[in-house]
Amino acid sequence: MDTIYTASKDLGEKSNHIILCNSLNDLQSLSKEEKNYVSQQFEIKNNPVHINKLDHQLFIYKKDTDSNVNLVWEKARIAAHGVCKTINNLKLKEITISGNVDKNTLLAFAEGLGLSNYQFLKYFSDAANRKNSLEVINLNGVSEKDLLDLNAVVSSTLIARDFVNEPLSYLTADQYAHDILEMGEEMGINVEVFNKTKIQSLKMGGLLAVNLGSPNPPTFSILEWKPKNAKNTKPYVLVGKGVVYDTGGVSLKPTANSMDYMKCDMGGSATAVGTMAAIAQANLPVHIIALIPATENRPGGNAYVPGDVIHMHNGMMVEVLNTDAEGRMILADALSYARKYDPELVIDMATLTGAAARAIGDKAIVSMGNAPQEVHDKLIESGFRTYERLTQFPFWDEYRDDLKSNVADIKNLGGPEAGMITAGKFLEYFTQDTKTKKGYPYIHLDIAGPAFNHSEKNYRGLEGTGVGVRTLFDFFKNI
Ligand code: BES
Ligand code: ZN
Ligand code: ZN
Repeated sequence: MDTIYTASKDLGEKSNHIILCNSLNDLQSLSKEEKNYVSQQFEIKNNPVHINKLDHQLFIYKKDTDSNVNLVWEKARIAAHGVCKTINNLKLKEITISGNVDKNTLLAFAEGLGLSNYQFLKYFSDAANRKNSLEVINLNGVSEKDLLDLNAVVSSTLIARDFVNEPLSYLTADQYAHDILEMGEEMGINVEVFNKTKIQSLKMGGLLAVNLGSPNPPTFSILEWKPKNAKNTKPYVLVGKGVVYDTGGVSLKPTANSMDYMKCDMGGSATAVGTMAAIAQANLPVHIIALIPATENRPGGNAYVPGDVIHMHNGMMVEVLNTDAEGRMILADALSYARKYDPELVIDMATLTGAAARAIGDKAIVSMGNAPQEVHDKLIESGFRTYERLTQFPFWDEYRDDLKSNVADIKNLGGPEAGMITAGKFLEYFTQDTKTKKGYPYIHLDIAGPAFNHSEKNYRGLEGTGVGVRTLFDFFKNI
């Protein structure tokens, strides 16, 4: 069970408390000795300060004073991570957060605490012993709407993490579609799943080609949230890479250990699914659809091979020169399918290229696209607020030169440089009409860097991070 945020009840003096303050003057409830102690601790840069009151616990966090508010909120989330550890070491079940600070800092701290409390224990025999004690976080001075949004976005980020953390031994494409269906039912999201026969009849050649080497069939899931009060007339469409495991196919992954964590290669789709969950739970007035092509990429049986030419959903012919560039093959068909909705904007998310991870590491999402710059800017602003920062890369047509093929319309492999951009430009072909070259506004997010942590990284966690859910939720909330 995830941590639940509730509105603060009057819990009395003996309740466990986190007090957020701007300065010592805010701490009226502390004794003189306690204030002295807290002051000393702040001086030696120990913030938050823990005071053991024996029958209850107190934590004091002094809000950062940086002029960049985004950084102030981020520091609050990170501070909450440390407090979370102590809370669970002390086996506390419930804590109240209050204080004199602005609401956004309080919400950021609460968000950091809830995200830090996440665990993926499904495969531990002694899960019950390992389980964190913290279950309820009471918040003082926030509205019902704030609580609803916070519960929605945190629990949905954790849904995305759960999906990423599931290994292939559980999460085949079929299982994934089944779990998405179940989630949709719970949340009032309409879900339709296309099976292999349907995918064949739709001529999704890219998805089918990648699936050839796998014993398990592909799926194509469509999630739709269409509230009566939707503010947009044309829908927003999310597209997520759902490669439930990437071996590289016959172009087997060449880098030592790089396959160890390739269960994370459906991370983009987990972000899309998580975003849908957050939007539905928060009841946002936006009409939005998510498309999830899912398959393994394996070298077995009838696997597609370098040199193959694949007939894609939009009719284009793609020469495969590396079967490890499979993400773009399945996304291409989904992006082409998205055209039927006449979307306002399409955003895809994918653990697409090692090049993106090499360029900026785990510190940011690589973004690019042909949507109007003000739309990019809105998303970038959301990324600053949530501290899932975006770095926009160029999307110039000259990068298409690297995709020229000797035998087909394009090839699925770019040159040795700017691999994240040539991948994005590959995808762009499928957002446009092949004749008129007209397409919908498009943003591509490559999350190969920040989707997965090999060691625990503060509130962002260990293994699947669910990166992007908070940013997209913020984007659609403010649209
Ligand atoms: N799934 C990988 C990209 C990836 C790398 C994700 C690291 C997460 C962490 C993708 O399918 C891939 O293998 N890309 C190749 C493309 C290349 C063959 C053009 C890459 O980046 O090496
Ligand atoms: Zn690959
Ligand atoms: Zn991949």
